[in-house]
Amino acid sequence: MALPLAVIVSGSGSNLQSIIDKIEQGVLDVDIRLVLSNNPEAYGLERARTHGIDVWTKSHKEFPTREGFDEAMIEAIHRHGADTVALAGFMRLLTPVFLSTFQGRVLNIHPALLPSFPGTHGQRDAARYGVKISGCSVHFVDEIMDHGPVIIQAAVPAAPGESADDLAARILVQEHRIFPQALQWFAQGRLKVEGRHVHLAGYGDYDAQTVDGALINPPLEKGF
Ligand code: GRF
Repeated sequence: MALPLAVIVSGSGSNLQSIIDKIEQGVLDVDIRLVLSNNPEAYGLERARTHGIDVWTKSHKEFPTREGFDEAMIEAIHRHGADTVALAGFMRLLTPVFLSTFQGRVLNIHPALLPSFPGTHGQRDAARYGVKISGCSVHFVDEIMDHGPVIIQAAVPAAPGESADDLAARILVQEHRIFPQALQWFAQGRLKVEGRHVHLAGYGDYDAQTVDGALINPPLEKGF
């Protein structure tokens, strides 16, 4: 059975789109049961509707507590039969109520090479710092922001003085590759977490791979 997934977005939803595309191409064995957003204006909701996916949206401002908002999301996710959650540009910290409900089943994409540049402006902070390499990371979510065990990373070269937008655009291309791939490994039950280390079944050694100038580890499989 395809992995029953909920996707939470706050904005454009291009990562959501990359997941939808890989499902439609037949390489990602996931069934998106629901797309949620704390921002009723999020374009990601429109993308979901276009593909016939149910949506749930409420502003977090309607809830007196963070837990109240998270409980409303939990109820909607359960009602739609999803047991795994992908954070695709969701700009809020989840509470322990949410994380204990979906223990070990929440994945996030972050637009920097963690543990560098956590937080909401990963690309801008990397560009300002003047790093030569930034990138993106998919990780399991724990209670600390952008902190849980890393599943896959893509390293992207940064040019001196380049704008945060230019760097972000090049990182985004790789986000669209590594997030669907990480979800497919999870759907296949191939990820095993030991402390901070995520082991991928089926690889003896991780042979990193270069794609369009980005270094990706573990390497992407056919179709991603
Ligand atoms: C992405 O860069 C993601 O890594 C970050 O927010 C951005 C969301 O982009 N967390 P989109 O909504 O998927 O287009």
